[in-house]
Amino acid sequence: MSNPKGILVVDLGAQYAQLIARRVRESHVWSEIAAPDRALEVAAGMNLGGVILSGGPSSVYDDNAPVIPPGILELGVPVLGICYGCQWMVHALDGEVVAATKREYGRTSLEVARADGILEGIDGRTVVWMSHGDKVTRLPEGFGVYASSEDCEYAVVGDPSRGFYGVQFHPEVTHTLRGREILENFIWRACELAGDWSADAIVDRQIEDIQKLVGETGEVVLGLSGGVDSSVAAVLVHRAIGDRLHCIFVDNGLLRKGERETVEKIFGQHFKMDLTVVDAADQFLDKLQGITDPERKRKIIGHEFVEVFRREATRFDNATFLGQGTLYPDVIESVNVHGGNTAVIKSHHNVGGLPDDLEMELVEPLRELFKDEVREIGRHLGLADEVVDRQPFPGPGLAVRCLGELLPERLAVLREADHIVTTEIEAAGAHRGLWQYFAVLLPVRSVGVMGDARTYEEACAIRLVQSEDAMTADWVQLPHELLARISNRIINEVRGINRVVLDISSKPPATIEWE
Ligand code: XMP
Repeated sequence: MSNPKGILVVDLGAQYAQLIARRVRESHVWSEIAAPDRALEVAAGMNLGGVILSGGPSSVYDDNAPVIPPGILELGVPVLGICYGCQWMVHALDGEVVAATKREYGRTSLEVARADGILEGIDGRTVVWMSHGDKVTRLPEGFGVYASSEDCEYAVVGDPSRGFYGVQFHPEVTHTLRGREILENFIWRACELAGDWSADAIVDRQIEDIQKLVGETGEVVLGLSGGVDSSVAAVLVHRAIGDRLHCIFVDNGLLRKGERETVEKIFGQHFKMDLTVVDAADQFLDKLQGITDPERKRKIIGHEFVEVFRREATRFDNATFLGQGTLYPDVIESVNVHGGNTAVIKSHHNVGGLPDDLEMELVEPLRELFKDEVREIGRHLGLADEVVDRQPFPGPGLAVRCLGELLPERLAVLREADHIVTTEIEAAGAHRGLWQYFAVLLPVRSVGVMGDARTYEEACAIRLVQSEDAMTADWVQLPHELLARISNRIINEVRGINRVVLDISSKPPATIEWE
């Protein structure tokens, strides 16, 4: 299969680089991300249609500012610089950039002077999301101004003859009202890309890649959690190498209610995959005894998972490969595969927890994909909606929702409360607008009264969020009657909880999971 023509997004250290890549794909054009030092190499391997330089926290005058190879401007394709990317481009082309006296941050009104190029169809004023310190004060030769804001004369600049454009704001975030049109003007018009790529197209390519990597005789052990990611990864790998795929489902004692049975039914019975269910609850909970620190929990769980896989893998002669449903956001948030400067937020167990001496090669067919793309692929591969539309569940499972010590009895309490949250929300049909909905058990005891007796039990938080990609999330308001029913049921039916609270924090600054 030929390489789809696409856009290279150069990651200059902002969390936004992957959002840009995702926006490009939403506009039906393939995109890849590379750190600046690998940009030319990645560009050479792509069927390149254009380059987007992301924003980043640096100033072009910082000693440790990302070094972008100037050759990026000599590839003969259009380049869009966003924020830091714009400043770097202007600087590299002999324009002038200075540190601004006033940092421009937040919603800003943009006045369009020239409604063509990347602003084609965008007249008058529009709201954009600014976040920059430095600013451009003199344009390189051939560049003109397309739009300005009160504090930034050169808010959109460009040289249409070379297809070079720069914007001082972030078109990739939804706060920039017409950001999508601006990006599409760049992708479709300036780069002249057809917009005919779809997530389905990746299936053939991935299957081919897996076959190439694993070879004629290699075997893959894959950790199946029953979640969307590992399920889609399993079906992809199964398509590629058939029964040389061995799925392992680890019952680590941190699962939700009914999870093990569902996985056995779907993958063992329906897909007829080679599925081993490992009963490892004691092993995990022993190791987690007394541990309350979130990062230590995650590290221990990640480590135990790998140990289980390693042990299981020895049962297969040639299983030198470890399959994982790692997604792009997992990769970006924990270690930066692209070598950029993106900060570590949480160590996701399927990435950061892997020990250096792991002697298995990784097969991660979803590593470059976003969740919605994975769902699309899942449907394409014939996975039931029941699996594809499942809410994400973190690798460390209930461990990161059971704050404090992971005692079997506390986990059992959380499991029951969570079951009530999910079944009530699904029964009301309210789950359709939600990204995740679950219960969190808090190690906080408070006084209550039940019948005539005093209770002194723990509290449970209900977490309901809406999100597009888990990078940002908003808390959600559900009808009070539904919340009341959930609360009543939890307090009446689950011994160990006498108080239910609602989490009304968005991400950022909170995260979706509590640990
Ligand atoms: P946070 O809590 O960082 O979560 O806002 C973002 C999304 O990632 C999920 N999550 C994980 N997924 N392994 C995973 O596979 C993990 O260690 C992990 N931690 C969080 C979380 O449920 C949310 O959808």
